[in-house]
Amino acid sequence: MTFLRNAWYCAAWSREVADKPLGRTLLEEKVVLYRKQDGGLVAIGDVCPHRFAPLHAGPVTGDAIACRYHGLQFGPDGACVHNPHDTRISPAMRVKAYPLVERYGVAWIWMGDAALADDALIPDFSVHVDPGFRTVEGLIYVKGSYQLVCDNLLDLSHTQYLHPLLIQSGGETSHGLEQEGETVLQTVKGRNSKLGGFQQFLWPDGPERIDSHGGLRWDAPGNMLLTINSTAVGGRPGEGILAYGLELATPETETTCHYFWSFDRNFRRDEEGLDEALRAGVSSVFENEDAWIIGEVQANMGEATDLLALKPVILPSDACAIRARLITADKLKRERIALAAE
Ligand code: FES
Ligand SMILES: [Fe+2]
Repeated sequence: MTFLRNAWYCAAWSREVADKPLGRTLLEEKVVLYRKQDGGLVAIGDVCPHRFAPLHAGPVTGDAIACRYHGLQFGPDGACVHNPHDTRISPAMRVKAYPLVERYGVAWIWMGDAALADDALIPDFSVHVDPGFRTVEGLIYVKGSYQLVCDNLLDLSHTQYLHPLLIQSGGETSHGLEQEGETVLQTVKGRNSKLGGFQQFLWPDGPERIDSHGGLRWDAPGNMLLTINSTAVGGRPGEGILAYGLELATPETETTCHYFWSFDRNFRRDEEGLDEALRAGVSSVFENEDAWIIGEVQANMGEATDLLALKPVILPSDACAIRARLITADKLKRERIALAAE
């Protein structure tokens, strides 16, 4: 598999890029992110064309970044703007520049054809900057393909096995699949369940039995929004406690990825202490349970990333994940055809 290139990926949380440049490998390309004087974000290639030093190690001077090794400076369009050794600047003194949009607290990068980078294609994650919600963010490095992270989230039935302490028990749970255009929606409805450990922690004065109205929205390649909503039995969606999670999986290589997660809650918003507890608790579950099992799965798959080619056993709960994989495969095919036509 190669990656979809003409797509928006999360390169970083906005907050990650402050005073210092940030170097990160995305889709097997080394990229440096830094801020210009006006605060605008820039993404350019991170490997200096002179002796291949990492540009992110250098200082930002004005709107340019200076190579730490011999001082060549590169501007936001990737071109060299200063050569301290010579008055001449050759056309070879340049690195790639990437379209980058900062929106919803996320730095979105477009790794493909810049002419096709349309910011209207960025899915709506406005909840992440909605003042009605308080946000905790994290980032986990996963030793598995970004598609295995999508599979994990697109089949939330894993929760009761991989995270048995987290969720409600008993009652009835139903999973559904909807598709709008190329967006996959997984719905998870729980009815009359006993409050689980995580919900008790979040909602200490909540009722003993609850309904849940949750789900996950997926857009290619790995941009997902998780909904967690618990209400009193018979409650309507949005009542009770409501949280969203941005779950953004960006490939580093074919078999590793960056998993950006958030927990955005509309309750107990003035409790700073809860932020820390959530940061530690959620990241521990993702890291020690989800990322761990995904790493084990990838290890068993070896270098392979095309899951369906390995002819896995299919369960009904795979419906959403397989739908997402088929949409991605189709988009990839169209991208390749368009590229070949050029
Ligand atoms: S390696 Fe960057 S200027 Fe020499
Ligand atoms: Fe999980």
